[in-house]
Amino acid sequence: MDKLKVCFLGTGSMGSSVLKGLLAAGHHPKLISATTNSEASAASLRELGISALSVEEASDANSLLAADSDLVVLGVKPYALLDLIDEIAAELPTTAVVVSMAAGIELATIAKRLPGHPELIRSMPNTPALVGSGVTGLAAADSATARSLDVATWLFEQVGSVVEVREDQINALSAISGSGPAWIYFLIEKWHEVALAQGFTEEQAKLLVEKTLIGSAKLLELTGEEPNKLRRAVTSPGGTTARIIETLDQADLTHLFDKALRSAVARAQELANPKG
Ligand SMILES: NC(=O)c1ccc[n+]([C@@H]2O[C@H](COP(=O)([O-])OP(=O)(O)OC[C@H]3O[C@@H](n4cnc5c(N)ncnc54)[C@H](OP(=O)(O)O)[C@@H]3O)[C@@H](O)[C@H]2O)c1
Repeated sequence: MDKLKVCFLGTGSMGSSVLKGLLAAGHHPKLISATTNSEASAASLRELGISALSVEEASDANSLLAADSDLVVLGVKPYALLDLIDEIAAELPTTAVVVSMAAGIELATIAKRLPGHPELIRSMPNTPALVGSGVTGLAAADSATARSLDVATWLFEQVGSVVEVREDQINALSAISGSGPAWIYFLIEKWHEVALAQGFTEEQAKLLVEKTLIGSAKLLELTGEEPNKLRRAVTSPGGTTARIIETLDQADLTHLFDKALRSAVARAQELANPKG
């Protein structure tokens, strides 16, 4: 993999975090290229030692860089993805592994725009990739080789963990891990609100909630214990924590979480197949 020419087309928050992970892992900057819309974004990427072009300065930037790549990562917003594909289709090498990060756009839709390009992979990363702790789901087109999946796995392992799934699981994966940071931050917001209501200062509430979350996550990771076991360790029968768990359990969180997940999957299906 260390000789692969990797090109990021559309290098915003998600694309640049993967790109930076790749650089940090020691991939040679001369093997990495990127495009952006604005020249300002391209200039800041060039400071990393890679070649970066903007569409603002070179209207053929995407096809130019895609033409000389082994692995092409499509990192524009979903609404811009199909135009980008049309732009590069003629120049893209047929052997190139193409990895889309776009939420909601199916492999069949991409394949229709890229006839003769079998190596298609769909990915769903999440924002902790920015700090090297992402989780990325990958689904390969039936036409793709096992090597292409290995290439995509290698790429996203530079910024965290990778899970291979079937494409029909991507929307559920997206609801769990892609949107996962939003679930967690929303819980933090609510937890913070109830701490404030108890008279703690903003600073104290932030510290109590966030450090508890980070510490608990570290404990989970470093001990490798089941969450259930760690929870029981702080829950004496008949004690105060037991009251908290009983109260939360009355709200049937499993049902609520399942409902939230299903609503996200339904929305992803609507976005992929708009009516009219
Ligand atoms: N953010 C997430 O949590 C997340 C999670 C999973 C998947 N994704 C997917 O990742 C993709 C990118 O999301 P993002 O959050 O990274 O978006 P973003 O920060 O807005 O980045 C989009 C990038 O595309 C560039 N761009 C726009 N038009 C272009 C064109 N015609 N040619 C080349 N580059 C162009 C932009 O350039 P400028 O920098 O000049 O504006 C920017 O660098 C989306 O498809 C999204 O569905 C995102």
